[in-house]
Amino acid sequence: MSVIVWWLVTVVMVAVHSASAGVVELNWEVEYKLRWPDCKEGIVIAINGEFPGPTIDATAGDTVIVHVTNKLSTEGVVIHWHGIRQNGTPWADGAAGVTQCPINPGETFTYNFIVDKAGTHFYHGHYGMQRSAGLYGMMIVRSPKETLQYDGEFNLLLSDWWHQGSHAQELYLSSRPMRWIGEPQSLLINGRGQFNCSLAAYFNKGGVKECKFKDNDECAPTILRVEPLKVYRLRIASTTALASLNLAVEGHQLEVVEADGNYVAPFTVNDIDMYSGETYSVLLRTHNPTPSRKYWISVGVRGRKPNTTQALTVLHYADAPEYEHLPYPPPVTPRWDDYDRSKSFSKKIFAAKGYPPPPEKSDEQLFLLNTQNLMDKYTKWAINNVSLSVPATPYIGTIRYGLKTLNYQKPPGKEIVEDYDITKPPVNPNTTKGNGIYSFQLGRVVDVILQNSNVLNGRGSEIHPWHLHGHDFWVLGYGEGKFRLGVDEKTYNLNNPPLRNTVALYPYGWTALRFVTDNPGVWFFHCHIEPHLHMGMGVVFAEGVDQIAKMNIPNAVLGCGSTREFLMNRGRH
Ligand code: C2O
Ligand code: CU
Repeated sequence: MSVIVWWLVTVVMVAVHSASAGVVELNWEVEYKLRWPDCKEGIVIAINGEFPGPTIDATAGDTVIVHVTNKLSTEGVVIHWHGIRQNGTPWADGAAGVTQCPINPGETFTYNFIVDKAGTHFYHGHYGMQRSAGLYGMMIVRSPKETLQYDGEFNLLLSDWWHQGSHAQELYLSSRPMRWIGEPQSLLINGRGQFNCSLAAYFNKGGVKECKFKDNDECAPTILRVEPLKVYRLRIASTTALASLNLAVEGHQLEVVEADGNYVAPFTVNDIDMYSGETYSVLLRTHNPTPSRKYWISVGVRGRKPNTTQALTVLHYADAPEYEHLPYPPPVTPRWDDYDRSKSFSKKIFAAKGYPPPPEKSDEQLFLLNTQNLMDKYTKWAINNVSLSVPATPYIGTIRYGLKTLNYQKPPGKEIVEDYDITKPPVNPNTTKGNGIYSFQLGRVVDVILQNSNVLNGRGSEIHPWHLHGHDFWVLGYGEGKFRLGVDEKTYNLNNPPLRNTVALYPYGWTALRFVTDNPGVWFFHCHIEPHLHMGMGVVFAEGVDQIAKMNIPNAVLGCGSTREFLMNRGRH
């Protein structure tokens, strides 16, 4: 039986540029397809006909080259490589309006970047609500010297699915008054779910029909086939549009070893909470059931009052009977509003031994108050009372060529809003649109304090998983209520905080993180809930503006807005 050698796990994954670094080159066609993701027909964005898109499998140090051809006939597309830092290639980050123009229908654009660090990552559309439409896939970057020991591995890409198309959702959210899209109809595991035909129907006498799919149907679950007495690595990513999730495997514990591409000090739990944008690796040790049998793997909704049945699949031990009901019902998802349970999971995550601690002091403190607002009766989300509206000309182009044609608004403030009572509905719910960015010199240590507040109707506060492009950050701490300046800093964990690229902001609380501006580029920092981002919940960081101005940015990135004109005029001289 494989044993994990703890002290080896503590070795930090370092940037690798070995002589043997390879090239992973892919040709992708992005296209709408009719599929049956949850046993009901719907329209998905597929890559080379696959939904979810193909899994990228690379090794740290490799160059990944993806030629993306947009076959969506009437709309642009971009692909963001979530978790890849894009050091030296900020233009390949794939955020429309920030790092590039959307790729026009019929055109091919080439992403070319180095995956410098091992980990479990994914990719997804980052234009309009194309992630909700199913434009996503896994991206595994292997370590040439993996310190974890395991016998096999599985990828689990988790998402949520609506029967209403993403264009309708987009329009609903931007209507006046806003029409809420509601809870998803299904949760998908690797793009497969079962609407209205619970796999667990056998135990569920509530009138749900049993699923009738055959093994080769598009909505049949991917079964995890395992051998007894082995160790399996489950690489799990959540790319949900809305839902926070909880994953459990009946009769098995999970040992958490990686979060967002960084090793964590291993800890064992019965189930894990996941927010959109997060990835985890967990080790699952199989036992030796006699007779051999099957166990449920279940994924359920947390953090919002669920109206979506669990997604289910099966851990199938070798030699277990193929067609037989499982003897027990699937694990029950913990209560959706048990936030203490969620926080206690987050607070179990620490960096593995060997990771250097963060810089002791920060140079700047940035307070970001998260609020739900109104703008001319449109519903918006705002940060320090500015609701982000990304311009047509990508920031990276405007900065690269110092274009004066676009005068960005002032960035939203940096200071804590002293007299804002986060426990009450907003006194003045009005907000404004803005395209201002925060600009940092290189080499600064920046603390960001995310502050949550009450929603418009005064009846609650939502979870917001915040994701930073181009970086990992240290999660310094979480707290309840309003951040107390000069007091709460003392509670920061400067010892072994985990490095992540996504972190949850809990209802009525604050979350503090620290990062170093060591990556020249323009980086999105936003709530990973797609409808929230669509309604303005994000900010943009520009790092090392002088360096960006000297950067070699492919013209193909900038074929829109004022950069296009600029490049065309320049071409004539
Ligand atoms: Cu996975 Cu900007 O997001
Ligand atoms: Cu949000």
